Amino acid sequence: MANKKVLVLNGPNLNMLSIREPGIYGNQTLEEINANIETYAKGFDISCDFYQSNSEGELIDRIHSVRENYDGCILNAGAYTHYSYAIFDAIKAVGKPFIEVHLSNIHAREEFRHTSVIAPACVGSIAGFGKNSYFLAVNAMKDILK
Ligand code: DQA
Repeated sequence: MANKKVLVLNGPNLNMLSIREPGIYGNQTLEEINANIETYAKGFDISCDFYQSNSEGELIDRIHSVRENYDGCILNAGAYTHYSYAIFDAIKAVGKPFIEVHLSNIHAREEFRHTSVIAPACVGSIAGFGKNSYFLAVNAMKDILK
């Protein structure tokens, strides 16, 4: 398998991991999780770039960048997941595989988290496994990109 490039994109408040509600989101920082993802993905000959933003427009610009620069994208859109039609449209515009990821089980939490407006634009969704959600997404991506 040739080397593939994947963007791991994280949305609002995910820069606060380890500080933010650790009972829900865990004790590791985003940098630590990203380092683990990088190592895991290398085992499948996938190289990852990592980006986090709290702003919807910046996330959309990064999603657009997937069209020319990456084979696919693993996306935790944070709370934008639940209401950003602009992110849904951006994913649809790009025409590359996106996998939706959440650390927590959004279906077992507040009602407003039960809906993902971006899910229909993604190949699939993984939620509820902590940082393993990202590893499962890498695993799925490696088969999608085969
Ligand atoms: C989240 C779940 C979202 O509902 C929440 O707004 C987040 C994180 C998760 O990874 O579990 O910011 O995407």
